[in-house]
Order: sequence, then C-alpha cells, then structure tokens
Amino acid sequence: MIRLEHVSFAYPDQRPSVKDISFHAEAGEFIAILGANGAGKTTTVRLIDGLLRPAEGRVLIHGADTATSPVSERARRVGFLFQNPDRQICKNTVREEILFGLKAVRGEEDEEFLKTRTEEVLKDFDFTGDEEPFSLSRGQRQRVALASILAVEPEILILDEPTTGLDYSECCHIMDRIRRMNEEKKVTVVMVCHDMEVVLDYASRALVMADGQLLADGPVREVFRDTELLEKAAILPPQIIGLSLRLGAGFEQADTPEGMAEAVLKRREAGGSRK
Ligand SMILES: Nc1ncnc2c1ncn2[C@@H]1O[C@H](COP(=O)(O)OP(=O)(O)O)[C@@H](O)[C@H]1O
Ligand SMILES: [Mg+2]
Repeated sequence: MIRLEHVSFAYPDQRPSVKDISFHAEAGEFIAILGANGAGKTTTVRLIDGLLRPAEGRVLIHGADTATSPVSERARRVGFLFQNPDRQICKNTVREEILFGLKAVRGEEDEEFLKTRTEEVLKDFDFTGDEEPFSLSRGQRQRVALASILAVEPEILILDEPTTGLDYSECCHIMDRIRRMNEEKKVTVVMVCHDMEVVLDYASRALVMADGQLLADGPVREVFRDTELLEKAAILPPQIIGLSLRLGAGFEQADTPEGMAEAVLKRREAGGSRK
C-alpha cells in the first residue's frame, strides 16, 4: 500500500530533514511514527501524502510513484488529518463541510449519492449536520475534520498528532473511530503521535525517527522495551512499560493492566521478593 525507497528530502536552503528512509506498509496496518520534535515525522507523512516530493528516492502509493501520479488519484486514496482541524474546515455547517469534501474528491458521482453518503456520515459521527464548526469544541472540530476525510473512504489515513489539545474522552472518541476504520475497512493508518499511551493502545508497529533518520521499525511493544533506542530518540515509554521494565524478571509481558496484575500474582505465588 505504501512503499518508501531510500527517500531523502530537504526544505529550500536547509539541511536534509529526511535522510534515506525506506519502509513499506501492507493494507490494514496501524503504524505510529515516533520521535522528538524536529525528527522529521511531519516531513515524512507529507512525503507519503505527496504534499512534498522526495529529492532522492521514490514514494509509491499502491504502486504509483507520487512524483508522477495525478494529485486527484492520491486525494482519493489518501486522507490526511492535520494537527490543527481548523486548517481543513472551511464551510459554515458540518453538512456543507462533508458534502464539500466529498464533491472535491468524488465529484463524478451523482448528486443523490453524495447527499446520501453525507447523511450516512453525519449519523455515524453523531452530528445533525446543522452545527456550525467554529462554535464547536476543539475535539468536536477534530471529529468534523475526520468525518469529512472518512466520508471519501480513503485506503490510507495519515494522522499528524491527531490527539493534540483533546481531553481524554475526545481522544478516545477519535481514536476508537480510527481503529474501527482500520479493523473493519482495512484502512492503512500512519499516525504521528507524541502520546505514547495512545501509541501503545492503538498502533501495532512503530517507526522511530531521530534527526531525519529511521532508527527502528518494529512491533510497538518491542520498540518500547528497547531502552537504548528510546534514549537515542529521546522518547519515554508508556508508564506501564516503564514500570514493568523497572520490575524486571517476570514482568516482560506486563504491558497491560491485566498483564501487570497477573505478573504480580504469579510473583506472590512463587513467594518471590516483593518490590
Ligand atoms: N517548512 C519548513 N521549512 C524549513 N524547514 C522546515 C520546514 N518544516 C520543517 N522544517 C525542518 O525540518 C526538520 C524536521 O521537521 P518536521 O518534519 O516538522 O519534524 P517533526 O514533525 O518530527 O517535529 C526540522 O529541523 C524543521 O526545522
Ligand atoms: Mg511534526
């Protein structure tokens, strides 16, 4: 679904922001990109979306090179949720917003289809359609932006810090919605995220970046146990993994509350030391 081959990129008059990155993703994967500020995460997802073109190497989406494939085709395949929802909301009601996005990407479909699809999406996202986006909360506006993207039924969903500025319940609402698309529709998700708890809960694979380079690519739970790697990338693991690492032997699988409880019980049964 996504393939990067030795991709490098530099903004005008800057040192390279992305250096020789290669990875590929199959349909239905849920990938998180981790790294400190300035590591090159946003640049990488913009390269995947085709908003930027590589200076070296190639980016293939469903086999098509972003340097030559039409923007319209990519817009249909790839949905991009920006960190700030206000950058992608431009209409006065939620209904108009969703219809506008649909028309822009699937304008060849007949009007009836687009209207029906809009109403489906409104219902699915718990909107009446008459709400005015700019009088909604930040979390609700993020939900409008996401609804508008998912209305188009992209094959790939890119999220750049989707939970920034959201409270816990808004965050769960958005992330659960994304998980459903991933599981039910096999949408490939690539998410830049600084919240390691969210990464642990939702992503299955992690790419770790530092200084424009890809340091690691592996299962989330393995990446979070590689303390040397995390230090290099200036990432703190989720609390539960940090705790299990400190508890040491017997706690290797304790990366969920249930797993932690089980490991504690086992240690008690074995009559081991009680740290
Ligand atoms: N529009 C831009 N113009 C010039 N340099 C940029 C621009 N956007 C990002 N950079 C630089 O590229 C590097 C990587 O940035 P970015 O991809 O935004 O990192 P991240 O998303 O991991 O914080 C940083 O050094 C940043 O200063
Ligand atoms: Mg960024």
